[in-house]
Amino acid sequence: MFAHEVLAPAGSDAGPIATLWWVFLAISIVVYVLVLGALCLAIRRARTRRDFSSGTMAVTDARSGRIVAAAMAVTVLTLTGMLITELVLGRGVLDERLPAGDAVRIQLTAQQFWWQAEYQDASPQARFTTANELVVPVGRPIELLLRSQDVIHSFWVPALSGKKDLIPGIDNTLRFSVREAGNYEGQCAEFCGYQHANMRIIVTAVGPDEYQDWTARQRAVAAAPGTDHLQRGQWVFERSSCALCHRVRGTGAQGTVGPDLTHFGSRRRIAASALRNTPATLSAWITNPQGLKPGARMPATVLPAEDLRALVAWLGSLQ
Ligand code: CUA
Repeated sequence: MFAHEVLAPAGSDAGPIATLWWVFLAISIVVYVLVLGALCLAIRRARTRRDFSSGTMAVTDARSGRIVAAAMAVTVLTLTGMLITELVLGRGVLDERLPAGDAVRIQLTAQQFWWQAEYQDASPQARFTTANELVVPVGRPIELLLRSQDVIHSFWVPALSGKKDLIPGIDNTLRFSVREAGNYEGQCAEFCGYQHANMRIIVTAVGPDEYQDWTARQRAVAAAPGTDHLQRGQWVFERSSCALCHRVRGTGAQGTVGPDLTHFGSRRRIAASALRNTPATLSAWITNPQGLKPGARMPATVLPAEDLRALVAWLGSLQ
């Protein structure tokens, strides 16, 4: 369901990177076979040659010198060829001048251990914030403005682009476009602490109409609870420690330390994609986050069973 494959490129940057990998693999196989062949030949000749008279040695030395010189020339040519291939393909990735006017700009801020995504827009009302799951339109340039809140992280969605570091105090930019609709999974690629391996991200590429619908839904504030049960869930959220860290637009919860949960119910995974978004995993995550993701910044929230059920139902209703 989630493509996590560097050799099945679906993004503008990933194509040249995959090509480079295949070219280097082919060259390496040829070199490996030639070196092993030469080694076998040398062993065979050393075994069969028994004549070490001085005249023969002089002839052999001269011939060996020529063979070594030729091998060195081939090595230098091969390495130069590989260097040029890498520079040309690397330049293709770096120099990619995607038309900037039409770009979808997302400020992606890495935190221990999750991703905050702020979709930019010229008009402030059209901006919105989400976390860990990006939705982007197929074909349009995507510009990620990469920042880190704490330590060095690295954004890497293998099927779409190369890696780019997120460094505290330094703004980085990554541009690419997605060629095919689909779900692409990524991974923080720079060791950033205890839960580095569970700092994942999902990029979903959709058609332009679906993207418009999604952004319209994301801009909206949270839906008002339709039942007493859901109302109780919102009440629990606003009055517990949840609201100190999380924001749900349209409610009293305005925390900014953790992920924005305004449309939490529409996300497929929780805890930076470490767990599936189901009522059971969410209940476990709220009551014992350290048991599921040791080292995560999320504190445990212990609630009466009925309050927890209402809270989980309300979070799930935030589509
Ligand atoms: Cu963030 Cu590794």
